[in-house]
Amino acid sequence: MSGERERWSSRPGFILAAVGSAVGLGNMWRFSYLTAEHGGAAFVALYLVLTLLVGLPLLLAELVLGRTAQSSPIRAFLRSGSKAWRPLGVLYVISGCTILSYYGVIAGWTVRYAGIALLGFDAEIADRFEDMAQGGDAFGFHLVFMALTIWIVAGGVSGGIERAATLLMPILALLICGLALYAATLEGGSAGYDYYLRADFSEVLSRGVLTQAAGQAFFSLSVGMGAMLTFGSYLGRDHHLPKESGLIAAADIGVAFLAGLVVFPLIFALGLSDKVTGSTVGALFITLPQTFAEMGGVVGRVVGFLFFAALVVGALTSAISLLEVVVSSVIDLFDWSRTRAAWVMGCLITLLGVPSAWSLGVLDVVDQVANNLFLLGGGLLLSIFVGWVMRDPEAEARVGAERFSGFGLWRVSLRFLVPVVLVFVLYDAVPKTLRAIAELVSGG
Ligand code: PHE
Repeated sequence: MSGERERWSSRPGFILAAVGSAVGLGNMWRFSYLTAEHGGAAFVALYLVLTLLVGLPLLLAELVLGRTAQSSPIRAFLRSGSKAWRPLGVLYVISGCTILSYYGVIAGWTVRYAGIALLGFDAEIADRFEDMAQGGDAFGFHLVFMALTIWIVAGGVSGGIERAATLLMPILALLICGLALYAATLEGGSAGYDYYLRADFSEVLSRGVLTQAAGQAFFSLSVGMGAMLTFGSYLGRDHHLPKESGLIAAADIGVAFLAGLVVFPLIFALGLSDKVTGSTVGALFITLPQTFAEMGGVVGRVVGFLFFAALVVGALTSAISLLEVVVSSVIDLFDWSRTRAAWVMGCLITLLGVPSAWSLGVLDVVDQVANNLFLLGGGLLLSIFVGWVMRDPEAEARVGAERFSGFGLWRVSLRFLVPVVLVFVLYDAVPKTLRAIAELVSGG
C-alpha cells in the first residue's frame, strides 16, 4: 500500500457521506413498492423492528471493523481475524459489483425521468415504461449515471465522496421535506395516508414478508456488503461510533418514512390508487409519472422534476459508496492509483449492467440475489465474525465512546439474536431465490 490512508476531513462530512450511502433508491423506490404490496404500516413496523434489532448492530459492527483494520474489506478480515475469513472480503467486493450493476440501471431511469418531467409527462407515459426501462436507451442513461459516479469516486474520499455528500444531502433533505409538505396540501390525499398508515397485520405474519422486510432493512441501511466497513476504514479513533451509527440509522428511517408521505398522498389525490399494487419493480416509474401528467401544467412539471431529481441525488450518493468498496479493495490489492481503479472497475461494472439494462426480468432476479443471498448472507457471516472471531471488538468499539454503556448488549445481539434471525430468514430466502434464478434461466 502506498502513502497514508485517506481520511474524512470532518465528522459531519463522514456522517453525511454515510447517510448518503444509506439514503437512496432503497428508501424511495423499494420502500414504497414493498410497503404498498405488503400491508402498509404493518410492513413499515416490521422493517423498523428489523432495522433496529438486526441492521443497527451490524452497522456498528461494520464501522468498528473498518476503523480497527484501517483497510478495505479485502484485507480487513485478514487483519482482524484469520486467513479463513478472507473470502468474505471477496464476497463483499462481488456484492458491490453486482448491486451497482443494476442500481446504475435504475438510477439511469431516474435521470431520464427527471429530464422528461421538465418537458412534461404525457398521459401515455405509464404504457411506455417497459420500453423505456429496457434496451439501448436504458443502457445509455446507465452509462451517463455511472460516469458521474466514477468521476466522484476518482476525486478521492474527502475531495470526491465527502464533498459530493456535503453538497447533495442538504438538497435531498430540502426536496423531500418540501415534497411531503406539498403532498399534504393536496385535496383527497388523506386516502393515501390511510392506505400508508393503516396496519394490515394479516399480510406481514408470513415468512416471505419477513424476508422482504429484512432484505429491505439491509439494503436501505447499506449493511451486509462492506460499504459501511469501507467508510469506517477512513475514520480516526475519535469517533463515537454507537452515536454515529444511531444517527445514520435514524436519518435512513426518517427519509424512508418521509418518502412514503410523498408517494402515497400524491397517488391517491389523483385517484390512481388502483395502479399501486398492480406493478412491483416499476411502481414508482409507472404510477407517479401518470400522477404528474394528471397534474399538468407548470405544477406537474416542477413537482415531477423535483421528485425525480431527489431520486437522482439519493441514488448518486449511494452508488459512490458501492463503487468505493470495489475501488478501495483494488487499490489495496494491486496498489493501483485511485483514478485508474475507479475508471477500470467502474467501466467493468457498467458492462456488467448490460443484462439488467436489457431485461426487467433479469434486473428483478439480480436484485433478489443481491438482497436475499449477498446482503443477508454477508450480514450473517459478519455477525459471526465480529461476535465470535474478532479479538475484543468491545474494546475497539469503546475507543471514542468510553461512557457508552450498551456494548454488552451489542455483543450479545451480534452473537445470538442477529444470527438466529438471519438463519431463520435465509431458510426462506435461499430456496426462493434459487427458484427465481431457475425460472429466469428456463425462460419462465
Ligand atoms: N442503501 C442504498 C439505498 O437505499 C443502497 C445501497 C446498498 C448502498 C448497499 C450501498 C450498499 O439505496
